[in-house]
Amino acid sequence: MTIVNITINNRKLQAQAGQTVYEAADAAGINIPVLCHHPALPPEGACRVCLVEIERQRALQPACTYPVTEGMVVHTDSPKVREARKFALELIISDHPLDCMTCEATGDCRLQDLAYEYEVKGEKFADGKRHHYAIDDPNPFIQVDRNKCILCRRCVRACNTINGVEALGIIYRGFNAKIAFGMDSTMEDSPCEFCGSCVEVCPVGALWPKMSLGKGRPWQMRQVETVCSYCGVGCKLVLHVRGNQIVKVTGGQGAANHGFTCVKGRFGYDYVNHPDRLSKPLVRRWLLEGGTKDEGRRTKDGVRDVSSSVVGPSSEFVEVSWDTALDLVTKKLVETKKAAGGDAFAMLCSARCTNEENYLAMKLTRQVLQTHNIDHCARL
Ligand code: SF4
Ligand code: SF4
Ligand code: SF4
Ligand code: FES
Repeated sequence: MTIVNITINNRKLQAQAGQTVYEAADAAGINIPVLCHHPALPPEGACRVCLVEIERQRALQPACTYPVTEGMVVHTDSPKVREARKFALELIISDHPLDCMTCEATGDCRLQDLAYEYEVKGEKFADGKRHHYAIDDPNPFIQVDRNKCILCRRCVRACNTINGVEALGIIYRGFNAKIAFGMDSTMEDSPCEFCGSCVEVCPVGALWPKMSLGKGRPWQMRQVETVCSYCGVGCKLVLHVRGNQIVKVTGGQGAANHGFTCVKGRFGYDYVNHPDRLSKPLVRRWLLEGGTKDEGRRTKDGVRDVSSSVVGPSSEFVEVSWDTALDLVTKKLVETKKAAGGDAFAMLCSARCTNEENYLAMKLTRQVLQTHNIDHCARL
């Protein structure tokens, strides 16, 4: 690794050759504002809010794309730099609705943060707004509001490089430029897989999860880290919880997913608070009150019909405590093992369980039930 010596804001630093000025400054704890830059995506240089002054360069340079070189001297917060950034923000906001009061992104919007920091109110170039796009993409997951899009191309890069789907791009030029899916179709009619990576990286409110609309502000939610329950990849998720309800899911920084996830992890959470979800154990009445399974079958002309799948009153489910249900399971396991031996059992483990749960299932099967009849759904 080649080390280069640079100076940022009169601080002498060492950086790695190949790093950008932004990366070197960030590693040294020096803040340079960014909008189009995202650490997980290739640099783009689209927004110009990261401009910095580099000595012996005639023009200001974008820190997110400009590589460090030996002896480089950089100023990240000079009056000239701040003025240029403010101008870049004024241009961006000139074609942006000033909807922060009702916008879903308020409190979680990089443009809003920078407008606040640089005191940009949208008054300069106030007649610059040219488009009023309908917010009408019919897909069930992602609201697309092109009026708020700042054309930073983060979504395009995420779709191309994180997912490799290439479902969206920017079409037309100049003031007519806009994000488009497929051949300018709806998201559903494009190759989109609804992974939501574009939503994850969008720095403003242009792409937003529909299931979270109107569900609250960021400061009204607590964030809970968890592991996705859908498959064995083990993506880390962040649940945004208001009261006792999950109102949004974003990707967590886990080794398996680095902040991104698939459609199931991101949008498949409505089962958690669904009223039909079982939250207490249910046990057949005949198991509690004694008797056999067949006694619960419907009778036909007074004769018990054991072939019937329709259950009678003694086979109805009864809500019980966990202790009662687990005692019953233990009793049945012990009885069956005594009567028929360990090989009467088979355990099927699941990729939806954690490694720890699967390990415990293996221990229970081999050591307690004493059988090797254990397999895993990943082999099916
Ligand atoms: S996207 Fe950001 S800046 Fe634009 S209206 Fe929403 S909160 Fe305000
Ligand atoms: S949801 Fe995923 S696949 Fe669809 S456009 Fe966004 S990044 Fe691409
Ligand atoms: S939709 Fe969001 S991420 Fe995509 S270009 Fe517009 S502002 Fe950037
Ligand atoms: S963050 Fe550098 S140009 Fe956008």
